[in-house]
Amino acid sequence: MTTSELWGPESAERYDAEETEMASAAVLGATVGFLADLAGDGRALEFAIGTGRVGVPLRERGVPVAGIELSEHMAAVLRRKVDEETLPVVLGDMATTVVPGEFSLVYLVYNTISNLLTQEEQVECFRNAARHLRPGGRFVVELGVPPLRFLPPGQVAVPFDVSERHLGFDTFDIVEQLLVSHHFTRDGEDGRYRRGASRHRYAWPAELDLMARIAGLELERRVADWDGTPFTQESPKHISVWRKSA
Ligand SMILES: C[S@@+](CC[C@H](N)C(=O)[O-])C[C@H]1O[C@@H](n2cnc3c(N)ncnc32)[C@H](O)[C@@H]1O
Repeated sequence: MTTSELWGPESAERYDAEETEMASAAVLGATVGFLADLAGDGRALEFAIGTGRVGVPLRERGVPVAGIELSEHMAAVLRRKVDEETLPVVLGDMATTVVPGEFSLVYLVYNTISNLLTQEEQVECFRNAARHLRPGGRFVVELGVPPLRFLPPGQVAVPFDVSERHLGFDTFDIVEQLLVSHHFTRDGEDGRYRRGASRHRYAWPAELDLMARIAGLELERRVADWDGTPFTQESPKHISVWRKSA
């Protein structure tokens, strides 16, 4: 049983069509290069692989990739791109599902650890990553830094995108450490906006480091993006690499 919301057929069909910056050649090239270097000559496991935005090009780069995915609809879109033998996917919860074999790299990108809405599940997710890693293997997480500095007393919402096609803002429940991302997206030329919302549990880098320790992993590197820009107090997100002792 997971607290994650299930991605349905419409979200799955729209996912690749949205052509976000995350799907651009610049972002994907750097992402795949970063992960391929860490995988070395071993295998990689993507938690919440979705439609294979990252997993498919990483496989094409020559890294053997497997995935875990909760939504059969997202996995079905991936399956149109690549067969099961080339990129196996197990349907299940990334906090508990076990995939056969050992991996040199487990990775969980695009803020998706926040889809697990309790601390306990996020800890289990780290434990599950460690369970799949060979000694010396790495777990990589890409996650936004909670933007609470933009939330003065009395205000509950922080905008993260204000553009012609999309209006996005987060609302916060500081007591429960939860946020809701609200999206208003213009679908066609008729001026109508589609409304969507998703729930997330935000966490600071330091909390993730503690989860990693609980799972037997040590922080090796933290950067601000896939190009390796140093992480600073102004960085809106981080990519963190934890290592299982050799
Ligand atoms: C933002 S998409 C990211 C997909 C892909 N990793 C990417 O970077 O494009 C989030 C994905 O996480 C999946 N997901 C959410 N909670 C999950 C869970 N507990 N276990 C496995 N997958 C989960 C969703 O079904 C969805 O495919």
